[in-house]
Amino acid sequence: MHTTTSQPARAAAARTAVRWRQRLAAWCAGASALLAAPWASAEVPAIFRDADLALGEQLIRQHRCAQCHADKVGGDGSAIYRPQGRINTAGLLRGMVEQCNSALNLQMWPEEVTAVAAVLNRDHYRFKD
Ligand code: HEC
Repeated sequence: MHTTTSQPARAAAARTAVRWRQRLAAWCAGASALLAAPWASAEVPAIFRDADLALGEQLIRQHRCAQCHADKVGGDGSAIYRPQGRINTAGLLRGMVEQCNSALNLQMWPEEVTAVAAVLNRDHYRFKD
């Protein structure tokens, strides 16, 4: 015989669903907080561990990196950063920023180049070592 779910059972199931959704939302919030957290861990490549991220962000704005990239690839320019492309290690990423530094004659100091590369790594490439 066919049983229908009782009213209380259905209400309980709905409450459980709400609880799960809340738990999931809490988990997601926690996960994104983790992603946004200052990277004080082994998740950061050694060459970027002491980088001054605020300085890097400022230099990226100052040298209009994104504007020129946007002219080339559209959008906000970030599509130019391709972690699966030829820049596939933290060292190569820093080397690429150094190349732009010389090619565009930006005259950044070595620690400034590191700071810029560290920000690109945090926001786009996400190399871990
Ligand atoms: C005048 C234009 C221009 C400016 C300014 C510029 N770039 Fe670029 N950048 C390019 C072009 C064009 C490419 C693509 C080169 C290619 O694919 O061969 C590129 C590629 C890159 C790449 C490699 C992307 C990848 O994954 O292959 C990085 C990293 C990069 N630029 C960083 C920077 C940074 C950091 C700045 C600012 C300090 C900057 N660029 C400023 C034009 C520019």
